[in-house]
Amino acid sequence: MTLPNPGIYQTVGSQGIRELVRAVYARLGQSSIAGMFPPAEALQAAADKSALFFIGICGGPSLYEQKYGSPRMRMRHQGFAITEEARQVWVGCWNAELENAVEVHGFPAEHLASFREYLESFSKWMVNRPV
Ligand code: HEM
Repeated sequence: MTLPNPGIYQTVGSQGIRELVRAVYARLGQSSIAGMFPPAEALQAAADKSALFFIGICGGPSLYEQKYGSPRMRMRHQGFAITEEARQVWVGCWNAELENAVEVHGFPAEHLASFREYLESFSKWMVNRPV
């Protein structure tokens, strides 16, 4: 598994990644898999927790590990029924936000394609239920 390019963190920074993940969570909260996620008032806090992980994999400090220990992402997702269909909705929310991420979030255009590929392949690992 190739991690996203560290140039993402260098360009977008912690606050930028937090805003990007918040925007994706806002989309998830309106999506057909919204029921898996915390209610609207708790969505931002959940996004900020996830953002710590994204900061780390995008080349920033390992804040998620420091705070929560080993990522063990597949294990942490086990409690949610993630089918291939749900995965596609999740990736769709990310892709929709990434559509204008260069303009809105200052995302480095040269790293967009590989970041999308990372999400596409890593998310397949989270699928834990048959259709
Ligand atoms: C690239 C793939 C993915 C990454 C990097 C990722 C990352 C994360 C992280 C860091 C968390 C917080 C874990 C914690 O509580 O400590 C999380 C939670 C969660 N993820 Fe994912 N995830 C991925 C794919 C998915 C997919 C495909 C789904 C569902 C279709 C999903 C649904 C959830 C849900 C429901 C939670 C719990 C609510 C929350 O705290 O956000 N994730 N994810």
